Amino acid sequence: SESKSNHKREVHFENLQSFLLPVHVYLTSDCYVCARRQAEKLLPGSRFHRYSSENHSVLRSSAPYSVPDEVHSHLDFVGGVHRFPPKVQDFINSSPHSKRSEAGLHLGVTPYILRQRYNLSSSDVGGAPNNSQAVAQFLEQYYHPADLSEFMSMFGGSFLHHSAVERVVGTQGGGKAGLEASLDVEYIMSTGANISTWVFSNAGRHESQEPFLQWMLLLSNMSDLPWVHTISYGDDEDSLSTAYMTRINTEFMKAGVRGISLLFASGDSGAGCRHMGKENAFRPSFPASSPYVTTVGGTSFKNPFKLTEEVTDYISGGGFSNVFKMPDYQASAVDAYLRTAGSSLPPQSYYSPTGRAYPDIAALSDNYWVVSNRVPIPWVSGTSASTPVVGGMLSLINGQRLLKGLPVLGFLNPRLYKLQGLGLFDVTDGCHLSCLDEEVQGKGFCAAPSWDPVTGWGTPNYPKLLAALLN
Ligand SMILES: *[C@@H]1O[C@H](CO)[C@@H](O)[C@H](O)[C@H]1NC(C)=O
Ligand SMILES: *[C@@H]1O[C@H](CO)[C@@H](O)[C@H](O)[C@H]1NC(C)=O
Ligand SMILES: *[C@@H]1O[C@H](CO)[C@@H](O)[C@H](O)[C@H]1NC(C)=O
Ligand SMILES: *[C@@H]1O[C@H](CO)[C@@H](O)[C@H](O)[C@H]1NC(C)=O
Ligand SMILES: *[C@@H]1O[C@H](CO)[C@@H](O)[C@H](O)[C@H]1NC(C)=O
Repeated sequence: SESKSNHKREVHFENLQSFLLPVHVYLTSDCYVCARRQAEKLLPGSRFHRYSSENHSVLRSSAPYSVPDEVHSHLDFVGGVHRFPPKVQDFINSSPHSKRSEAGLHLGVTPYILRQRYNLSSSDVGGAPNNSQAVAQFLEQYYHPADLSEFMSMFGGSFLHHSAVERVVGTQGGGKAGLEASLDVEYIMSTGANISTWVFSNAGRHESQEPFLQWMLLLSNMSDLPWVHTISYGDDEDSLSTAYMTRINTEFMKAGVRGISLLFASGDSGAGCRHMGKENAFRPSFPASSPYVTTVGGTSFKNPFKLTEEVTDYISGGGFSNVFKMPDYQASAVDAYLRTAGSSLPPQSYYSPTGRAYPDIAALSDNYWVVSNRVPIPWVSGTSASTPVVGGMLSLINGQRLLKGLPVLGFLNPRLYKLQGLGLFDVTDGCHLSCLDEEVQGKGFCAAPSWDPVTGWGTPNYPKLLAALLN
């Protein structure tokens, strides 16, 4: 059925040509029929219809398509033809963990607490000229400059910091600030203090989810870029096509060899759960499961009211990709974990032990204070928080390397796994969540000495990690 709205209907035919730029075909409701004909001509066999749910309508083809031979060899993927949008999600979890909110509500994580825990002294701030860092935002999430300056005046007293973002790339929307955006900016600038910070604000969607490829193509086309980028967004691996993820991986590799470090949140559903008929399986998240990025898991304080050692935050995303093979750099660490964990591992039908395993590293992800829309908000949790915290520390290390005339870190994982946990606090306690069924009863993987698929190698002990990464 056709509705009389003025909204643009959009179908993506990404990389129909061998250019870097994705090609978009816009189907407008004004001439829906002729636009549909054009799409059907480009993709012989396809038959486009408008499918509507309660509040949403998408154009999809009910039939398979083909592409001309001359085009095929230049094509990475065709998107927006068959897949329907999954439930849109980001990783922010602003509702209190019910278990913890009943206990005394005093201490929350602030920049001061983080800098104490990770041994950042007041002189551990950026000093290198032209060092910079970035967060990327999606799904119409915007930060407000006034929130950032209010956050810094409330919480930035104990260290030299910037109170404003250096540059916004993309359009900053009006309206309310997003909690995710506020969190990311406020915390990357608290650990990566006194370092210029950029925000990449990415409008639009790919099949209703984050347009990760368009953002990466934008980076690819820029010559002057921050060295560290943190991203607290992700999608279920099974909601994206392998061809599309593979194309994004190519961009991740290009960024890595340029010296850029990409950090992704590992997700907030532990091992996740996918219900497939009677069977359940764990549900990895992408880009967390990409072999070409550094993925950050989450922890909480053992005693939530004290600066104690850290334990697993049970929401910490982790596990094994069902799509990407295990990269060489992590093979021996992951093998050691699998061998040691042995019979305490979940049944093999739930995951692919030969896949890319994540996370790689972790940081506190529980009970943060964030200022959003001029209001200080407690109990903000998720690997959304741990990711910018680690990113800021990597920026500090890049700064120290630059001051010594060394190249920046770039893709961190091969070096990180060689350190074998040196410079990190090993997290060995606790398990994360997964399917609530009889077989695994909500339990995914468990933390263990050295690397594990819940907290990676552990959390940064800044001075030691700096020393190790200056080597
Ligand atoms: C559709 O929109 C209405 C009104 O905004 C809302 O109450 C409802 O929850 C929405 N339904 C879905 C499935 O998103
Ligand atoms: C870092 O922090 C830990 C725990 O808070 C502490 O035991 C240690 O002495 C600190 N310093 C270094 C250099 O590790
Ligand atoms: C802060 O950063 C600037 C470079 O952006 C540097 O010149 C200055 O020395 C830094 N401050 C401290 C205390 O390191
Ligand atoms: C790439 O950069 C050039 C020069 O800055 C600009 O004109 C062009 O629009 C950019 N292309 C994309 C896809 O961002
Ligand atoms: C490096 O410094 C120049 C000159 O101040 C500035 O224009 C540029 O944006 C900086 N680059 C980055 C990546 O911060």
